[in-house]
Amino acid sequence: MQTVNTVESLREAVESLRENGTVAFVPTMGALHEGHLTLVREARKRAAHVVVSIFVNPTQFGPNEDLDAYPRRMAEDSRLLEAEGVALLWAPDVAEMYPAGFATTISVTGVSDNFCGASRPGHFDGVATVVCKLFNQVRPDMALFGEKDWQQLAVIRRMARDLDLSRPHARDIVGVPTVREADGLAMSSRNQYLSAEQRQAAAVLPRAMRTAIAAIAAGEPAAQALAALEATLLGAGFSSIDYAALADAQSLEVLDAPGQAPARLLVAARIGSTRLIDNMAVG
Ligand code: PAF
Repeated sequence: MQTVNTVESLREAVESLRENGTVAFVPTMGALHEGHLTLVREARKRAAHVVVSIFVNPTQFGPNEDLDAYPRRMAEDSRLLEAEGVALLWAPDVAEMYPAGFATTISVTGVSDNFCGASRPGHFDGVATVVCKLFNQVRPDMALFGEKDWQQLAVIRRMARDLDLSRPHARDIVGVPTVREADGLAMSSRNQYLSAEQRQAAAVLPRAMRTAIAAIAAGEPAAQALAALEATLLGAGFSSIDYAALADAQSLEVLDAPGQAPARLLVAARIGSTRLIDNMAVG
């Protein structure tokens, strides 16, 4: 596996990979876990070469968020990626990604307004801008993202359609189902912030979500099922709920009840200072 740190060396390396087949791209912020490695394995099935980026993007963190505490484990991540047969690791530093005078922001309205967009102002502008840059830098045939960040995936797909991106084209942005721990908790780099007691409480989240989905499927009004879900989480030791909502799976518009189009249950909740998100299909 080759590691590159400048846009110029990245371009050269990707160009030479492309001469021998297709390129799949997996953007990450590092602190890799089984969820990321599942994306890499899926990418390997779909393309001749896999490029992974590791960049903890400062512009998607709010002023009081965990940018400084966010785990950074480049050596270990690099070993994991090498073992998975990744061809190229793109690991720019902040100055390479955002050169002096950087002044452009991509803002995807609508789909990023609710949920994490509302509870983390500016977050999706940071995500859309860095992902657009990463796409332009790597110019892959396809890119893979975890469905755990469902709203992020919707924002990125909208951006790719709206900006007529060709590498990757919006249709080549692939969502990969969430990888879960044995007790159902969605894998996340932030799970490692949890104490043993908090980790136990966190497992209540996917269970309570399944209960709410079953209640909605049985005809209970969504508002009632969501109120019960919130009460269960607070009773289990969660400190606050950012949102628990039923939404159209694509537009992310809030729904009172599931209709014809696919719907999604989306939750963000905090245990102590750790913010966990999850989402599941409804129906
Ligand atoms: O999902 C992530 O890890 C990040 O939001 C991403 C897509 C790599 C952009 O920084």
